[in-house]
Amino acid sequence: MCGIVGYIGSRQAYPIILNGLKRLEYRGYDSAGIAIYDGAGIQLSKTKGKVSDLEKRVKKEIKTTGTLGIGHTRWATHGVPNDVNSHPHYSNSGELVIIHNGIIENYSAIKKALIKRGYSFYSETDTEVLVNLIEDIKKKENVKLGKAVQIALNQVVGAYAIAVFDKMKPDEIVVAKLGSPLAIGIGEDEFFVASDATPFIEFTNNAIYLEDEEMAIIRLGREVRVRKIKNDSLVVPYVQELQLNLEQIEKGGYDHFMLKEIYEQPSVIKDTYRGRLLASEGIIKLGGLEDHIQKFINANRVIIVACGTSWHAGLVAEYIFEDWARIPVEVEYASEFRYRNPIITEKDVVIAISQSGETADTLAAIKLAKQRGAFVYGVCNVVGSSISRETHSGTYTHAGPEIGVASTKAFTTQITVLTMIALKLAKIKGTISQSNYMKHLRELEMIPHHVEEALKSDTKIRAIAEVFQDAANFLYLGRGYNFPVALEGALKLKEISYIHAEGYPAAEMKHGPIALIDEQMPVVVIAVNSNHYEKVVSNIEEIKARNGKIIAVVTEGDSTVKELADYIMEVPKTPETLSPLVTTIPLQLLSYHIAVMLGRNVDQPRNLAKSVTVE
Ligand code: M6R
Repeated sequence: MCGIVGYIGSRQAYPIILNGLKRLEYRGYDSAGIAIYDGAGIQLSKTKGKVSDLEKRVKKEIKTTGTLGIGHTRWATHGVPNDVNSHPHYSNSGELVIIHNGIIENYSAIKKALIKRGYSFYSETDTEVLVNLIEDIKKKENVKLGKAVQIALNQVVGAYAIAVFDKMKPDEIVVAKLGSPLAIGIGEDEFFVASDATPFIEFTNNAIYLEDEEMAIIRLGREVRVRKIKNDSLVVPYVQELQLNLEQIEKGGYDHFMLKEIYEQPSVIKDTYRGRLLASEGIIKLGGLEDHIQKFINANRVIIVACGTSWHAGLVAEYIFEDWARIPVEVEYASEFRYRNPIITEKDVVIAISQSGETADTLAAIKLAKQRGAFVYGVCNVVGSSISRETHSGTYTHAGPEIGVASTKAFTTQITVLTMIALKLAKIKGTISQSNYMKHLRELEMIPHHVEEALKSDTKIRAIAEVFQDAANFLYLGRGYNFPVALEGALKLKEISYIHAEGYPAAEMKHGPIALIDEQMPVVVIAVNSNHYEKVVSNIEEIKARNGKIIAVVTEGDSTVKELADYIMEVPKTPETLSPLVTTIPLQLLSYHIAVMLGRNVDQPRNLAKSVTVE
């Protein structure tokens, strides 16, 4: 988490950095800061709060003229969010200034040693320790900044993406990466540094993504020098052409990114299967899968690792993989998997699902699975992300940038990819009949249309949100394929409205949660056409008998649940196997409207960050 941005060139650095911070604010937004070299010294301003607070403060506090600068938007790890703990941080001499995304785990021991050497510390951060370690090495060893950074990083344990400059040598920025992303935009006689490419997309399409344990010295008038941190050897960097455009990272007339992203689902689901799903010919073609298909076919089992919403997509995949392809599937929280000495063999295939491709726990789970010989397949959205590079192969979801912290289009596009994989495997294994296979290909192709239809209930859903906006708790129930959707609906509500919500398999309700039900408890039940429809109806009766308020997601034309429920949200008819792709839509809208009505910051809910690059 945290966003970092930097610029060196001939333009004014401040507007580029400020705008870049606004674009990176999804990564963390509890404090922000900026440092500009003004031709004589460093102008530094930082504050608790958002980038907009920084902007106000900068106006009062510093001069912003200068063509070299760095900026930071923070998600606190060490030290509470306050002005002092905000980045950038100076070294004791005031010559070096640094921004950092990540955690230095052994900072405490280094800090003690530096204090003994006469260094003082003003913040509680690990970052201030790092910049002073660099300064100490630079002076002690009498080396240049780049060399000092390299030596220092060999002494630290943890994760980082850093950018640091020296006011005594204001023609270069030194950057380094381990575990947190760092992109370098290459312009004409100018360079950009950022956690992702969005801050510089209007200036250049050429970027270098540093690999882990790489650093770069970015000096004006020279090519970017990339080196290995371990042994200082030079690396020939790969300059990538970016496929991103400005429109994709703007709100496009919507009040929030989350709403824009909910509404983008019909088109991005199409993008996900475009060129991969040829329904009329009965073909599914997934580039990353073709060469590795036998690994899946011969696998003892598939282990899915992911976090949050991506984990919910993994749960949906468990149902479809087992149902169609008859491959045993285990779905694991990456954070638990990595620490519990799991049994993994060379006969296992691990699928790692991640929107950002940067989630630290998922990345660690992948590394563990690789060490133990498993084949690891990634389902990622962000092209070139750490997870997409760390996995043996994979499929991109092509959802486009997801900026709202609450995942929406990432979920449906992940399920789309996983559905295609499951169908393809089932076809090859012969575990699905030809007619069922063809039916599902055609139905999958229809999903964007069904999602569009589901979105038409928006006004009705807003009215339901109005009724329940003050509820203190919500229960979400679903069965089978829609149990993960219940979990996802509850997560969406919790994270953006701060209302407590629980997702449960509907039949489990009577084993405990039923005790919570009274007239104050709204219960969202996914009750679409399925093999369990009658059972879900019985669950609804049980809730009604205890005066619970029922909000049901039903298939268009449903009459039974309509009579029982207090409110209904209709979705088009789909096969049960594909229903999560549409039943999730009203739940996204419900949580969105409730959060807006409660005045929450929908795109940047408190305490959260878009990509969780710390464990
Ligand atoms: O980028 P990832 O998909 O790996 O992120 C995983 C979770 O952090 C993420 O899904 C999180 O739960 C979202 N805020 C949910 O909306």
